[in-house]
Amino acid sequence: MRVIKTENYEETSRRAAEIVAEQIRRKPDSVLGLATGSSPVGMYDELVRMELDFSAITTVNLDEYYGLAPENEQSYRYFMNQHLFDRVNIHKERTYVPNGLAADPEKECAEYDRRIEELGGIDLQVLGMGLNGHIGFNEPGDSFPVGTHLVTLADSTIAANARFFNSESEVPRQALSMGLKQIICARKILLIVHGKAKEETLNKALNGPVTPHLPASLLQLHPDVTVVCSFNE
Ligand code: F6R
Repeated sequence: MRVIKTENYEETSRRAAEIVAEQIRRKPDSVLGLATGSSPVGMYDELVRMELDFSAITTVNLDEYYGLAPENEQSYRYFMNQHLFDRVNIHKERTYVPNGLAADPEKECAEYDRRIEELGGIDLQVLGMGLNGHIGFNEPGDSFPVGTHLVTLADSTIAANARFFNSESEVPRQALSMGLKQIICARKILLIVHGKAKEETLNKALNGPVTPHLPASLLQLHPDVTVVCSFNE
């Protein structure tokens, strides 16, 4: 595990973007696993600025709120279009985000896992980490969720994500999330963590016991993880 501690969010974003750019240059038809939320926003801006060639890239996103249409401004599909896909030369039909409107979520999850397998797995998975140590929407619990699944969000996740909505009551209570199997099977992992509030949890995740009560701790078992982090604010 490589841990790069930087001075601030801007530097974290630059360092993270360099890692993704290196992957794209080395393997122009990479499968990138992508995250939403505030952690990777600066990195996406950097990637756009770098004018990389995304024409052969495929992406699979970690998660989507269950019940939100792709056109909904709070959906993760909308977020990805806005922050990355509409700003680079990627082919939209090769960008995958779970369908938040799937009538049969179990089927959607199984198909999402199958798709990842058909793509040959994920070359580089970008992750953020929740305040409670979740990765994707794999919330703390008594066991590690394996495959893509419908998850009931933890109260602390709903409270943390309320900042993106008009009020906490508008935050969807459920999401479709990639499981830990797909994440841990990615060939490389890039974890972006910013903010004082996450410092202690990250420290426990990287140095404490591996436990489903802190899902990010599972990353200790992966052979190629880079953590880029800053705790200045
Ligand atoms: C987002 C995701 C989540 C976030 C995490 C951190 O696709 O899967 O695990 O990465 O909740 O969110 P931020 O970056 O907003 O603090």
